[in-house]
Amino acid sequence: MKRLFKVVGVLLLIAAASSMELFAADQSAVGETAIGQDGSEQHILVAFLSRSGENYNVGTPKEGSESAAYAGYIEKGNTAILAEIIAEATGGDLFAITTANPYPDDYASMLQVAQEEIATDARPELAGTVEDMDDYDVVFIGYPIWHAHLPQAVYSFLESYDMSGKTVIPFNTHEGSGQAGTQQIIEDALNESKVLQGLAVQGKTAQEDPEQTRALVDEWLEGLEMKRTESENERVLAVYETIQQAMIDKDITSLDRLYLDGTIFTHMSGKTQSKEEFFGEISDGTLNYYKYVIHDPQIEVDGNEAVLSASVTLTAKVYGASGEWTLPVNAHFTKIDGEWYSHN
Ligand SMILES: Cc1cc2nc3c(=O)[nH]c(=O)nc-3n(C[C@H](O)[C@H](O)[C@H](O)COP(=O)(O)O)c2cc1C
Repeated sequence: MKRLFKVVGVLLLIAAASSMELFAADQSAVGETAIGQDGSEQHILVAFLSRSGENYNVGTPKEGSESAAYAGYIEKGNTAILAEIIAEATGGDLFAITTANPYPDDYASMLQVAQEEIATDARPELAGTVEDMDDYDVVFIGYPIWHAHLPQAVYSFLESYDMSGKTVIPFNTHEGSGQAGTQQIIEDALNESKVLQGLAVQGKTAQEDPEQTRALVDEWLEGLEMKRTESENERVLAVYETIQQAMIDKDITSLDRLYLDGTIFTHMSGKTQSKEEFFGEISDGTLNYYKYVIHDPQIEVDGNEAVLSASVTLTAKVYGASGEWTLPVNAHFTKIDGEWYSHN
């Protein structure tokens, strides 16, 4: 803010000649972690096995297919859709478990392949690995139910990594079998992990009703206390945005609360203003802010201190000069009793 004020000060002198370049709007998301059950930041992986192609009870029947009477064609698998919703809700990273020998699109052939894998207790070779599995604290594992079983490729996946000490959370789609005992199978296979209660969603629901699927996921995650809460970076950005909006709204109460006492606003001329003087000029119409756009905010959080760097396009009328200016900003924040406040 100090910097912003400074630059506005300069612009007062050279407003007419100003040719500051405007940046393209690009407000990026921040933060990749989620808050876990104990309040700590956790890295979350959402790994899933899922098939596109023909499946039971979903999609559009494919002309000429021998399974068309009972299977339709889908572009994205049911479990993949569910996995995306979980990743979105938790802030987790997605990883698709795929086999070196891809599964057939054709439903009748797939039924047979799965049957053979179960009969031989196969461990199909996987394509691709999670490089940084050690970095994840929580691993969601998603899969369809095949012939009332956990797909054999999921065994391959579970046996490929050391999951001890991690929190593992199963989820699956099905067309009537529910979890089909796979919760217990995963708990037995990962007896050194903390396996939480999984979620089973009908494949047709995941495929055709995203609202309902999202509601089921939210309710489940809330029960597990795994729902994503704002990261510190997002909270700092939210405070900065609240300050910008409060300047527009001339909401002095909010500005007074969010700027720490003693904050000094400095003009480029060297003239300094207290909070009270600055707010007075906002109140009496000397300073008027109409619109702000924050471009590419970068937030560094270090314990109870944070710095937000960005460029901000401000539409304002200050000391009688109207204009739109894009200005570099370095705003400082301190966390007190769990809340972030701005200062210089
Ligand atoms: C080979 C195969 C076997 C299946 N067996 C069952 C089953 O035993 N019980 C069930 O409820 N659904 C069964 N289904 C349906 C799938 O579990 C369901 O369509 C699931 O949502 C597919 O997920 P995906 O699209 O992510 O692969 C089977 C599907 C296939 C392809």
